[in-house]
Amino acid sequence: MQSTVYEKLKKCESCIRRITDFTPRVAMVLGSGLGDYADTIRVVAQVQYGDIEGFPVSTVPGHDGRFIFGYVGDVPVVCMKGRVHYYEGYDISDVVLPIRLMKLLGAEILFLTNASGGVNTSFHAGDLMLITDQISCFAPNPLIGANIEELGTRFPDMSHVYDLGLQEIIKTAAREQHVFLQQGVYAQLTGPSFETPAEIRMLRTLGCDAVGMSTAVEAVAAAHMGMRICGISCVCNLAAGMTASPLSHKEVQEAADKAAPVFKNLVTESVKRFGEIQ
Ligand code: HPA
Repeated sequence: MQSTVYEKLKKCESCIRRITDFTPRVAMVLGSGLGDYADTIRVVAQVQYGDIEGFPVSTVPGHDGRFIFGYVGDVPVVCMKGRVHYYEGYDISDVVLPIRLMKLLGAEILFLTNASGGVNTSFHAGDLMLITDQISCFAPNPLIGANIEELGTRFPDMSHVYDLGLQEIIKTAAREQHVFLQQGVYAQLTGPSFETPAEIRMLRTLGCDAVGMSTAVEAVAAAHMGMRICGISCVCNLAAGMTASPLSHKEVQEAADKAAPVFKNLVTESVKRFGEIQ
């Protein structure tokens, strides 16, 4: 079964290589609100997910699915406009396939972004949070099954999933841009239902600061392949039970859109600085 996972991955790689020979250094996953980040990229090539044989295609409204290849400043990047979520019904190996693919295409650094609910009681809707660590064990582990030796080791270390050097660069960029940056632990639950207030209390007890429905499994697959990973979460709402109002996807989208200009600047400045490191 795992060999078919690898075969599918290699097929997707050849499919893209028939369209472009671009070699990215940084892979970026654009979450809700950062969808129009493409405007910031000097685009060299684009590949629709639907044109890649076997590639999982997202069904979430507002998630236009394609890879964008190009430059942020002088840094060659590949950007995922739209990601695949586990709650859409895909096998977990398909959810992380795009991440593995970007690594095969040459990306050494992975920049993850997402929308989340704030669990930490000192957070506010609209805050940006630097992800310092994660809780992924509420979602299936994408490494389950025979290990794919070509990608990484059987029992990868997860002590430093989020690279300390990249975190420092992002913090410096935030300071210089006068962007207030929270920091904390991101937990991925499967969704698609939002959490209950009791689940949010549980997450807070476990040391979680923000909760969402993506990212952590992608980081597990990327860490397996030895990528340097960083992530910023846009805290779009306070999580269930923390305010009187019920949660809605529309509210999340609106908050993400509002935070987008500041978020985009911070991501751009950070990526430009990644170009300066070894
Ligand atoms: N919970 C889970 N995922 C989310 C939330 C939330 O409150 N807000 C945005 N994504």
